[in-house]
Amino acid sequence: MKISIFGLGYVGAVSCACLPELGHRVIGVDTNSTKVQMINAGASPVVEVGINELIDAAVRRGVLRATDDVEDAVLNSEVSLISVATPAKANFAPDLSAVENVIRSIGKVLRSKAGSHTVVLRSTIPPGTTEDSLLPVLEASAGRKVGDRLSLVFNPEFLREGSSVKDFHHPPQTVIGSLDDAGYAVVEALYAGIPGPMVRTSCRVAESVKYLCNVFHAMKIVFANEAGSVLKSYGLDGREVMRIFCQDTQLNISSAYLRPGFAFGGSCLPKEVKGFLTLARQADVPIPALAGLLDSNAAHIDRAYSMIATGGRKRVALFGLAFKPGTDDMRDSPLVTLAERLIGRGFDIAIYDGFVRLSRLLGKNKEYIDREVPHLERLLKPTPEQALEEAEVIVVGHADAEARKAIRAHAAGRRIVDLSGYEELRHCGAASYEGICW
Ligand SMILES: NC(=O)c1ccc[n+]([C@@H]2O[C@H](COP(=O)([O-])OP(=O)(O)OC[C@H]3O[C@@H](n4cnc5c(N)ncnc54)[C@H](O)[C@@H]3O)[C@@H](O)[C@H]2O)c1
Repeated sequence: MKISIFGLGYVGAVSCACLPELGHRVIGVDTNSTKVQMINAGASPVVEVGINELIDAAVRRGVLRATDDVEDAVLNSEVSLISVATPAKANFAPDLSAVENVIRSIGKVLRSKAGSHTVVLRSTIPPGTTEDSLLPVLEASAGRKVGDRLSLVFNPEFLREGSSVKDFHHPPQTVIGSLDDAGYAVVEALYAGIPGPMVRTSCRVAESVKYLCNVFHAMKIVFANEAGSVLKSYGLDGREVMRIFCQDTQLNISSAYLRPGFAFGGSCLPKEVKGFLTLARQADVPIPALAGLLDSNAAHIDRAYSMIATGGRKRVALFGLAFKPGTDDMRDSPLVTLAERLIGRGFDIAIYDGFVRLSRLLGKNKEYIDREVPHLERLLKPTPEQALEEAEVIVVGHADAEARKAIRAHAAGRRIVDLSGYEELRHCGAASYEGICW
């Protein structure tokens, strides 16, 4: 494949070094003449392990060269990768001007190119940018629409500086968002031979995945640093604790607890978070990120309440009361907090939870519910159908198969507010359906 790469920084230079190894012919493009000269002299414009040797070998084999001439690059390639910088502006929104300039200049050349061309964005950009901002620029400058010998793709880059050549050959996955079918096929061919899953999705999702990866990495670093700082103040080695912590790949380093849904609760998580925050406070160790956990959880309950309250309907069937499905433990359940809020604001609620039987409640669980929702006996219904009888709004905290069947059967004319994400409730004939994070 013949490829042009716009932007010879960390991302672009690594692609220039590695794509020829996959059998492609590459032309690097940059407005910085020093970077262009360096590539043509067989040297890398960035420092990375192993990159100089690869660039030198590719230039010598005649499969890599660089230029500042956009026309030369576009007319002599079938695919253009864009990896120019998207630095933060004063308001922290990314500055897209370099990406837009490159797209415009590629588009202008495409006006005189008869063959098909694929433009692949590698720069990190906010969700929606490819379709809403860059597609119009490309189509206007090229004088043709995507689908008419033109593809526009967003393909995020996951490499890490310092190990980028190795990362190029072993990515965690290759994510491809395209605005037409041909774009997917071109990018899959570009990376043929690279291991790991190839994921086809929309541009918006691909853009979001890249953003969230970096936010998550930042969150993990902050977690480890805050946790380690508190532990150190009690004479512990945070590295030793985190080493053992990370060995748990079932619950800790895994997809567990990473599904958007409702707030956390129960007898352990809120208590242990409060306990750890107390340890930090007693040791005078500021941990602003972890200190925000409880406020964030409370804001999520507020979000659910606002969704229910919107629209003014006051009769609510609430499915689920225990802190998670399959248990009758209601201590610190966010659904109990939500039920209390609804009752306090004058909503008329009926509750169904297949695992909660008041007659069976004992000990702390009973004390908690007697204190928090004293009228529960009147509100808790023995069957899903009875909970649904008067309902205008169906709130799904969690629901067993029997309850979901009843919800589907009684959905007509009612609003569904889904806090859990049961796909079968999405299109079940309700007057409206809204998920809390989807
Ligand atoms: N650095 C990383 O590890 C990394 C990893 C993944 C994604 N990204 C994203 O990739 C993008 C590029 O990052 P980078 O670190 O390689 O940037 P960089 O600043 O190192 O390089 C950008 C290059 O683009 C060139 N350029 C600017 N305008 C141009 C134009 N009109 N035509 C041709 N070249 C032009 C610049 O001269 C510069 O050489 C950013 O959006 C970044 O967020 C970076």
